[in-house]
Amino acid sequence: MNQAATLKKWKDNIMAEEGMSQVQSRPGAAADPRVMCFSSGKGGVGKTSIVTNIGLAIANSGKRVMILDADLGLANVDVILGLSPRYTIKHLFSGEKTLDEILVTGPGGIKILPSGSGVPELVNLSEGEKLTLLSEMERLESPPEVMLIDTAAGIADNVLYFNIAARQRVVVVTPEPTSITDAYALIKVLSGRYHIKDFMILVNWVRNEQEARKVFKQLSAVADRFLGMLRLVYIGYIPKDSSVSKAVRQQRPVLELYPDSKAAKQFVKVAENILNTEDKCSDGGNIKFFWKQFLGI
Ligand SMILES: Nc1ncnc2c1ncn2[C@@H]1O[C@H](COP(=O)(O)OP(=O)(O)OP(=O)(O)O)[C@@H](O)[C@H]1O
Ligand SMILES: [Mg+2]
Repeated sequence: MNQAATLKKWKDNIMAEEGMSQVQSRPGAAADPRVMCFSSGKGGVGKTSIVTNIGLAIANSGKRVMILDADLGLANVDVILGLSPRYTIKHLFSGEKTLDEILVTGPGGIKILPSGSGVPELVNLSEGEKLTLLSEMERLESPPEVMLIDTAAGIADNVLYFNIAARQRVVVVTPEPTSITDAYALIKVLSGRYHIKDFMILVNWVRNEQEARKVFKQLSAVADRFLGMLRLVYIGYIPKDSSVSKAVRQQRPVLELYPDSKAAKQFVKVAENILNTEDKCSDGGNIKFFWKQFLGI
């Protein structure tokens, strides 16, 4: 079948689908894959360190994990993990490479779609490119069971798009007042403009659980007061720990380098909490549903 015919077939399939149940018909496809978007109002609060280490913790628990690096910032997922991506999404559209070949394999077998490969600009793809990407996602040899998205800080359009299309959202916040107010601003836009009501809150850079709970209370108190019916769920904290910054400098995950550190133990705990958090999503929001929503097909 030529490429145009393949695309048409895919488009017809997609249009015919309701609730995206067909993705489960593929052997090895996950029955209940999750797509989780990690964001923060303020930059530099630890998103990339958190996504990579939580991704590894989830992979260590036996699940297939993919990280979508949707931030063009300096400390990208591939940099933090010391990986060197060779190809970009352009190679996919030109037909030179498959998605499997563009993905980079990280620790624990995590698959990473690096930001340098054009992820932040995915919203601007042509219709044909969107369909190619979607069909390639479907054809992956081992489709992910969990997809984590590391977004840029703030409320730029592409950050909002990833959040809207994801099934669950994690907002990372630190005790810094600007981090709390900026997290509030992000939640306000997503709930006010896009009617998103469920948020998981992860508190980073704290001395202990008590401080993390205090930050969570501050954030949820203003959200309750000014934004009405939201569901903010506290999913844990990561302590301020020099093993995190040391690991970043060594371009390796904390979980591998310092598995006994306080931070590593909390990464594992938060990963468990995330997987155990009740999933209220009723739209069958699996990975293909995410791509359909995101790409606007
Ligand atoms: N819990 C922590 N303890 C100590 N250092 C931390 C912790 N969390 C993050 N850091 C350090 O803070 C710096 C910023 O972290 P990171 O790059 O993960 O943040 P980010 O939110 O992804 O930033 P950006 O918004 O620029 O993408 C890194 O050098 C990292 O080592
Ligand atoms: Mg980052």
